[in-house]
Amino acid sequence: KGACVADLAELVASHIVDVPDFPKPGILFKDLTPLFADGPVFREVIDGIVAYHGAGSFDVVAGIEARGFVLAAAIAYATGLGVVPVRKAGKLPRETHRASYELEYGEAALEVHTDAFKPGERVLVVDDVLATGGTAATTLDLVERAGGTVAGFTVLLELSFLPGRDRLAPREVHALLTV
Ligand code: PRP
Ligand code: MG
Repeated sequence: KGACVADLAELVASHIVDVPDFPKPGILFKDLTPLFADGPVFREVIDGIVAYHGAGSFDVVAGIEARGFVLAAAIAYATGLGVVPVRKAGKLPRETHRASYELEYGEAALEVHTDAFKPGERVLVVDDVLATGGTAATTLDLVERAGGTVAGFTVLLELSFLPGRDRLAPREVHALLTV
């Protein structure tokens, strides 16, 4: 039972809609909302991520606002674990670590509560897309600044024409689909 790696890649590929010139001219937006909206496919994807890392290999799931929240919550529920939100700056109410980064389009900052993790807690970080890697690199740094240990980083889709994977090296990236 459970989809194999090739099946998962095909599932992701077949549930992405390419949207030209969004949010700016020249950007080809990878819309994953059709995947999120399909119950059986979403479940296969979540179960596939858990199976890849192995339930028991992480203690908590960190989701990156906003699209990473969808995945993080589902993985946490499936494994009986909790979720830590890594949020866009200015949203978290208590003391935070903050780091700014550049996006494929624009600039932003992310924050996590300073007490979000117990010391050494193993954190699975998830997001929908790895593009330039700015979001992910910033998040992994924030997790460690907050005392967590990065147990893994998973995305549904990796854009290999951008330097995300190299930027995160030597950390490993698990992508269900690389295009
Ligand atoms: C998108 C996407 C990833 C990030 C990838 O999020 O969901 O988080 O960009 O880009 P990068 O690898 O170049 O950093 P976005 O910041 O657009 O916001 P959202 O998730 O709130 O829609
Ligand atoms: Mg995002």
